Amino acid sequence: MDVMEAIRARRSIRAYKPDPIPEDALLQVLEAARLAPSAGNRQPWVFYVVRSPEVKEKLRAAYGAEWLHAAPVAIVACGLPDKAWTRTDGKNYCDVDVTIAMDHLILAAWELGLGTCWIGALDAAKLKEALALPEGVEPVAMTPLGYPAEEPPVRPRKPMEEFAKFL
Ligand SMILES: Cc1cc2nc3c(=O)[nH]c(=O)nc-3n(C[C@H](O)[C@H](O)[C@H](O)COP(=O)(O)O)c2cc1C
Repeated sequence: MDVMEAIRARRSIRAYKPDPIPEDALLQVLEAARLAPSAGNRQPWVFYVVRSPEVKEKLRAAYGAEWLHAAPVAIVACGLPDKAWTRTDGKNYCDVDVTIAMDHLILAAWELGLGTCWIGALDAAKLKEALALPEGVEPVAMTPLGYPAEEPPVRPRKPMEEFAKFL
């Protein structure tokens, strides 16, 4: 599958099979995120790979949807704002960098037949508590990772003429 195929076919998956993820597939997905570009190459991120059922259970406090817990793995993408590059006007690029890495992970997962669903509506304070995150480690997003148990239809996008302004 080439990159464009993965981009076209990927869907947010909200139903998972309990089947375990082979170790090499999990490592490949993480490798895609590790290789992502970041502002100033600061790599201001840490990805928590939650496999332990006990720890995964604790994530319920931060996001209760059943499909998150049905997947064999949950990945919590965290930023390290103090390590991130900052623009001259003060804008911190941490969330941008973490987002790019997460998108790499999501597309690499799809190529391997693995589903994900970006979760932004999480309770960051509860997530920090659940994972006992150290000071300075900020959750940006999380996703379940597992084999899809659904085939969602294409979700609509803005047409090109609304999306791109050619000047
Ligand atoms: C930044 C961001 C936050 C999102 N947060 C959630 C979320 O909290 N819960 C959820 O079910 N989906 C969430 N989504 C998934 C979107 O709903 C989904 O990407 C969108 O509806 C398009 O569908 P598709 O991903 O299948 O193309 C989020 C997506 C993004 C990019």
